[in-house]
Amino acid sequence: MPDFQRAILTHGGAGSNPNDFSGTDSAASRGMDLMTNGGTALAAVVDAVKVLEDDPRFNAGSGSKLRIDGRTMQLDASCMTSSNEFGAVACVENIKNPIDIAHGVLRYSPHILLVGDGARIFAKEHHIPVADLNGSDPIETSETSCDTVGAVAFDGITFAAALSSGGLEKSAMGRVGDVPLPGCGLFCGASGAVACTGDGEFIALRLLAKEVYTWLENSMSLVDAAHKAITLFDLRVDIGLIILTRNGFASNARNGMAWSHMTENKY
Ligand code: GLY
Repeated sequence: MPDFQRAILTHGGAGSNPNDFSGTDSAASRGMDLMTNGGTALAAVVDAVKVLEDDPRFNAGSGSKLRIDGRTMQLDASCMTSSNEFGAVACVENIKNPIDIAHGVLRYSPHILLVGDGARIFAKEHHIPVADLNGSDPIETSETSCDTVGAVAFDGITFAAALSSGGLEKSAMGRVGDVPLPGCGLFCGASGAVACTGDGEFIALRLLAKEVYTWLENSMSLVDAAHKAITLFDLRVDIGLIILTRNGFASNARNGMAWSHMTENKY
């Protein structure tokens, strides 16, 4: 199979309505347009995730879930490249696009993860625009019980992955899942990129994205890797993932998931 010149996959979260693929299509198109015009895989996944954060059908950004207090959203987001760059934020409250701050952490910070008000202060110091979801903006939480959105991309040289989560509905204040933890919700290396979605505690304890990546390194087929990842977990665990390599891709989800792909071959 020929290598990709560029490729991107996007998903709307484990448990999202597969018929909502117009949202994941828009996100994939945005990322692919960016790469076609010379943008990197990192820029593509960040912009794609931003499109998903702005779509209230999905549990991220504008569609995030409320915590147990019934009024606060605490959001996690992350991005990573196959050059071993990583940036993440956790428990940032009531903002539209946490992925922008995670991207800023990757680009400008010596640290890999900033939480809560620290992430907001960092954004201000680095002139990263932060749009709040409170004040005059209506808070639109997603009606479905879907999970984290994500994207993986390849620009012909580098792989990248990005995630954004609106949290688990009614979860404890301060709870953080797999999204901002490298190797848990996402992982990239020279062999490809993996983005997971679903019950964060289970994904994190299993280091799922790194585990799936290791299977790719050991030449497991994409179909087998996507299948095996789901079967690692008990039937009650909601789980999904997207996987991209230099010349192939796969997706799987236990309870359905909106997802999209766009690829261009090298020859
Ligand atoms: N997978 C997102 C979360 O559990 O927070």
